[in-house]
Amino acid sequence: ALGAAGLGGLAGCTGIGALSNDSDVPTATPRSPPSGPADTAATVRAAPAQAASGLSPDTWIYSGGLPGPELRVPEGDVFEVELANDLPRETTVHWHGVPVANPMDGVPGVTQQPVGSGESFTYRFRAEPAGTYFFHSHVGLQLDRGLLAPLIVEEADPHVEYDREYTVVLDDYLDRAPQPLYEGTDSDGRGPGMGGGPGMGGGPGMGGMMGDRRPPYAALLANGRPPADPQRLDVREGQRVRFRFINASSATYFRVRLGGHPMTVTHSDGRPVDPVGVDSFRFGAGERYDVVVDATNPGTWELLATALNGSEPPARALLSYDGDTSAPVAPSVPRRELSYSDLVARTPIDGLDGSPDRTFDLTLSAGQSGWLIDGQAYPDADPLRIREGEHVRVTMRNRSPVVHPMHLHGHFFRVGNAVKDTVVVPGHMGTVTFDFLADNPGNWLFHCHNLYHLESGMARLFQYV
Ligand code: C2O
Ligand code: CU
Repeated sequence: ALGAAGLGGLAGCTGIGALSNDSDVPTATPRSPPSGPADTAATVRAAPAQAASGLSPDTWIYSGGLPGPELRVPEGDVFEVELANDLPRETTVHWHGVPVANPMDGVPGVTQQPVGSGESFTYRFRAEPAGTYFFHSHVGLQLDRGLLAPLIVEEADPHVEYDREYTVVLDDYLDRAPQPLYEGTDSDGRGPGMGGGPGMGGGPGMGGMMGDRRPPYAALLANGRPPADPQRLDVREGQRVRFRFINASSATYFRVRLGGHPMTVTHSDGRPVDPVGVDSFRFGAGERYDVVVDATNPGTWELLATALNGSEPPARALLSYDGDTSAPVAPSVPRRELSYSDLVARTPIDGLDGSPDRTFDLTLSAGQSGWLIDGQAYPDADPLRIREGEHVRVTMRNRSPVVHPMHLHGHFFRVGNAVKDTVVVPGHMGTVTFDFLADNPGNWLFHCHNLYHLESGMARLFQYV
């Protein structure tokens, strides 16, 4: 019954065509969400933070938490999540990284009508493949208000042994409403992601597009805790601990380090990789890494996540052996940092042998009033047209000095020997190529996960025709 309410608005596929940016080209029929009874169900309530929470009332959160409470679902389940919108504005949920059917992807004006204030919508998808994901609003700058939470799809057969696990959500906290990028948009920054159209000229603060346009954050948070009040992650000597790190920030490129313990990277963006031993890694907004750590060095140790593109004090948590009361020890200078070339997928994407059927060469650059992909600002940008079954190759060249964590909806891609859904393109002519199999028809957003870059136009649609 829950499902019917949400799906009703999109019954049939005609709604999709009407919603898409470009109606002169017929688009391929998207996959349908799974039918039949749900195996697991959950409700997510989006609402402004209560005064008692200590958060600014401009903070908007899921089910009372920043981050929102973790959703966990067994791999393969039909998962049904009712979004109840108690915000004063419309919203949506995007299941970041999960290859859902297109109508469930949560992109307003592209895959669904936004969910109005006081309304609800039921999302429904098969929870696969297993991995570390998160979900967030895809309306305007709402992610930077705090509408984010982890989603864990539990593997039926974990190939990593561990005794306990912690999810660590890293965030950049704004203690006020995010500034709209453009005059004339709604106060939640309803911009291009809403199909806002042209005429969004330079409002205040639009100067310096070559800069990162990263707001000065009040704090960097680890699991919602500011650096002065770190969470204690308890372990016992001899345990193997799995950490699921999620960069749920809006604009922060983090370096993560842990005192006294090497880390073994086991998953990137939820997908298993051959284990890599490191003592730090960097990740951009939207990326995830799972690592395991052997608790063989009793004491209290700092876990630090430093902004590489900001100057706030690092987000922190404490790895603390039971009963230990000693002062926390900070990590030493990393000698071995993860690089993408270390990542070798255990579950490669089939169907990408041989040369691509279609290639796109895209430049990433700063324009006069926003960030561009190949000289165009979304939504006034040509869709990238593909056909089902194609092997698609995308090369991105970054003509700007800042990093762009580029995220593709609805698909994993191969980058080097890794399988990911978000990849950082380094500044100053950094070039990254990824390949994906066009196996999920629909209209899929491809964009920079720096929210401010996205909202000023750094996005395109992959459109199946
Ligand atoms: Cu987390 Cu459009 O993405
Ligand atoms: Cu960017």
